[in-house]
Amino acid sequence: MRIRPVAYIFILLLASCGKPAGWQYVIGFSQCADDEWRCAMDREMEQEALFYDDISLIIRNAGGDSKRQSADIEAFIEEKVDLLVVSPNEEGPVAPAVEKACDAGIPVIVADRNVSSDKITAFVGADNFYIGKSIGQYVSGLLPDGGKVVEITGLMGSTPAKERHEGFTSALSGAELSRSEDAGWMRTDAYDRMLEILRSGERIDVVFAHNDEMAYGAYMAAKSLGRQKGISFIGVDALSGPGGGQELVRDGILNASFIYPSGGDRIIQTAVSILHGKPYDKVIRLGTSIVDKGNVRLLEMQSRHIEERQAKIAVLNGLLSGMQESYRRQRQYLTLSVAAMAVMVLVLIVLVYFYRQKKSLNRQLASEKRTVEQQKEQLLKMQRQVEAAMVKNADRLFLERFDRAVSDNLGDENLSMEKLCKELSVSRVQLYRKVKSCTGESPSGYIRTARLKKAHDLLLTTDLTAAEVCYTTGFNSPSYFAKCFKSFYGALPSDYVKQKSKINL
Ligand code: FRU
Repeated sequence: MRIRPVAYIFILLLASCGKPAGWQYVIGFSQCADDEWRCAMDREMEQEALFYDDISLIIRNAGGDSKRQSADIEAFIEEKVDLLVVSPNEEGPVAPAVEKACDAGIPVIVADRNVSSDKITAFVGADNFYIGKSIGQYVSGLLPDGGKVVEITGLMGSTPAKERHEGFTSALSGAELSRSEDAGWMRTDAYDRMLEILRSGERIDVVFAHNDEMAYGAYMAAKSLGRQKGISFIGVDALSGPGGGQELVRDGILNASFIYPSGGDRIIQTAVSILHGKPYDKVIRLGTSIVDKGNVRLLEMQSRHIEERQAKIAVLNGLLSGMQESYRRQRQYLTLSVAAMAVMVLVLIVLVYFYRQKKSLNRQLASEKRTVEQQKEQLLKMQRQVEAAMVKNADRLFLERFDRAVSDNLGDENLSMEKLCKELSVSRVQLYRKVKSCTGESPSGYIRTARLKKAHDLLLTTDLTAAEVCYTTGFNSPSYFAKCFKSFYGALPSDYVKQKSKINL
């Protein structure tokens, strides 16, 4: 009974060991491709997720394959993630998987590219029609007297490509869109498409590629034919860093680009609001802006500043994770120490319990031992009594035999101890000891007393003279007989004879 509370403490300790610090919401992110812009998006989401200690983010990348992306989404549904973020490769093929997730009760945020379904929980992305339209206006400004424009589109199955195209064509005036080619967002494909167009000998004044990657591919194709100088290249994304759109604009390779934010931070913030049951916007439109020679340096400075800040935040995050790790380890040590102490207390209680048990057992054994000893004592006493009785009986029998031998030989004045010993089959010493112990007299004393008693009897019951009685009872001298008789009965044998004759008279 006394062990019970300790057992409870122990169970509580064990339970607290396995419990995570807080409930982790798992956000599954299905990313459609793995280019630079996508990597920047992943990074932004990961960095934002670090600010929430109950969020864990798992990213699966489909590498530009809609089938693979659908499979990724199915896997997230299987794993029962708490929320799904999807940046769909194409709006149609990925839609069934997204709807399946929605039907399974998983909130779905669609980011950047959209899906052909209205079941989604929220959308985060820029206005691609607006981007296309702005670029259309920009190109119209570049070619006031008309000119030939080539459009290299992104994957036409994806919404940004469609919307950028629609916006672009809606705003293009004066200038003519001579070709529109799908290069699927890929630099290499854009290079190939551009080479084909250039080789056809067409005039090209402006190339609008739906992203900077493809714009650069087109530029490289023109450069390979030495025709880059007379063409203006425009892209979208304006990423900072080496090889990014900002650098391309600064270096004069691109005339302009358009900032296309990934919104990684806003996606995570929206996800957290949904998971925590807080209000959120169903559609979040991210701001965009044109980047050209006029603002690229300022933008680069700002981008560098933001990157430095982000690097510092990353360092701080690293430090924080280190501290969290050491706190977690200390907590583990503490838990282990408390558990060890609880075990020790438990062992101590068990030891005390067994020690007490042993003590009470010892007490019980001691009392049983005392009882056994008392019983043994009793038995020994009884044994001694039995032995004494046996000795007494043997002594009585021996005395009877001795007495009979003495009576039988009472008249024999030469009765010797040797003869008696022989008759009784004992040694002289044994005879002496036995007679002495049974009667308190020596054998010779006992014979003398027996002779005197017989003599006394004869003197009282017969008419024998004192001398006759003397010899009949084995005394060989009347004077000695008289002396012994007097000392034993207080009167001489002759006094008995006289007394008797007086009575007879
Ligand atoms: C990256 C990308 C970007 C483009 C966006 C459109 O995969 O192609 O360059 O702006 O996707 O969704």
